Amino acid sequence: MTETTQEPLNNTEMKRKKKKSFPISSKVNLARYTKSEGIYPYFIPLSTAVGPRVVMNNRQTIMLGSNNYLGLANHPEMIKAAIKAIQTYGTGCTGSRFLNGTLDLHVKLEKELAAFMGKEGAICFSTGMQANLGVISGITSKNDLIISDEKNHGSIIDACRLSYANTVVYNHDNMESLERCLRATPKSKSKWIISDGVFSMEGSLAQIDVIVELAEKYDARVIIDDAHGVGHMGHHGEGSVGHFNLMDKVDLVVGTFSKSFASIGGFVVGDRELIEHLSHHARSLIFSAAIPPSAAAIALKALEIFYTADDLRTQLRKNTARFRKGVEISGFHTISGITPVVPIIIGDVMKMLRFNRDLLDAGVYVNPVVPPAVPKATVRTSLMATHTEEDLDEAVQILEYVAKKNRILK
Ligand SMILES: Cc1ncc(COP(=O)(O)O)c(C=O)c1O
Repeated sequence: MTETTQEPLNNTEMKRKKKKSFPISSKVNLARYTKSEGIYPYFIPLSTAVGPRVVMNNRQTIMLGSNNYLGLANHPEMIKAAIKAIQTYGTGCTGSRFLNGTLDLHVKLEKELAAFMGKEGAICFSTGMQANLGVISGITSKNDLIISDEKNHGSIIDACRLSYANTVVYNHDNMESLERCLRATPKSKSKWIISDGVFSMEGSLAQIDVIVELAEKYDARVIIDDAHGVGHMGHHGEGSVGHFNLMDKVDLVVGTFSKSFASIGGFVVGDRELIEHLSHHARSLIFSAAIPPSAAAIALKALEIFYTADDLRTQLRKNTARFRKGVEISGFHTISGITPVVPIIIGDVMKMLRFNRDLLDAGVYVNPVVPPAVPKATVRTSLMATHTEEDLDEAVQILEYVAKKNRILK
């Protein structure tokens, strides 16, 4: 018999031993499983700027899954603007916009943004997610009703949860369903219809014209989250609301600097009174630090570029049409549309993840998307104005080859 000479545990060690282990969620379980299968698709490091071709996991890869629609993320003028702002203002604001974190650069950005979007005022947040959280919870009260599209972005869903208002959800892009919700609401109740402008995962364009018509009929107000529309849609990049010429009929437009602006931050534009209200009630604005000087300067430079970026917008549309045609000719199941977000619907999650892994191995990056973000597992592809015909044709060829190998295409 062997004798053990283990030291008795001290109090801290006893406590640590007693601590319950953290429950493993189904998401973590899935992550562990996909890691063990070698098909885990998240947190893959890039070691270059987000351009049409990147280095990802140490290999050359065609980038088909960014939100850098106009390709400005490594534009020399944007880089110059960021460097100049750091030299002038330093690296960070170290405080909330409400107190010590407002720079003259933020004030200028808000003024330019409001003018660009054709609204009286604007206020900037630290991210687009924080913009939705602050705007929706800050503008609604417990007597209000929020009527929200089923496929709205997660930040809108969370914002509705955060708000004291009641929320009802209408079927995605279904205007009869929206009207049923409006009809069922007492006239006296304050109503807010909220929708993405361009739906982020499937690329469909909201029927903003019908939404606005219904809002007028039922005396509701409208918020459009145009994270994926501003920069490349509309007359000079003012987005999907501008595409419909309806800026004066939409009460608030929320946006982000993290996509076409190639920076970081969020914003809302609207009437002076609404913006003044939000500046004092949006908690995610008040209780979070301001975007850094470099991010504000990049967003300002992006706005300047947007005004004269017709060539980039035209090129993006051409690239979108070419890629959409390629994907359709190959026989992929997609959803037709005009935006640079092109979904390829696969169906089964594991099949999609295997397809995704093989695409990466073959040198193409796409966004793997699983339910409930989409009804069926999908690879989301997105275009940039700076993709060349060669990039796109090669990407379609690889997609087709890998899909055949995975029995997604015959
Ligand atoms: C529709 C929509 N709204 C808001 C956001 C959040 O933007 P941000 O990345 O600036 O937090 C996103 C980002 O994916 C989005 O797609």
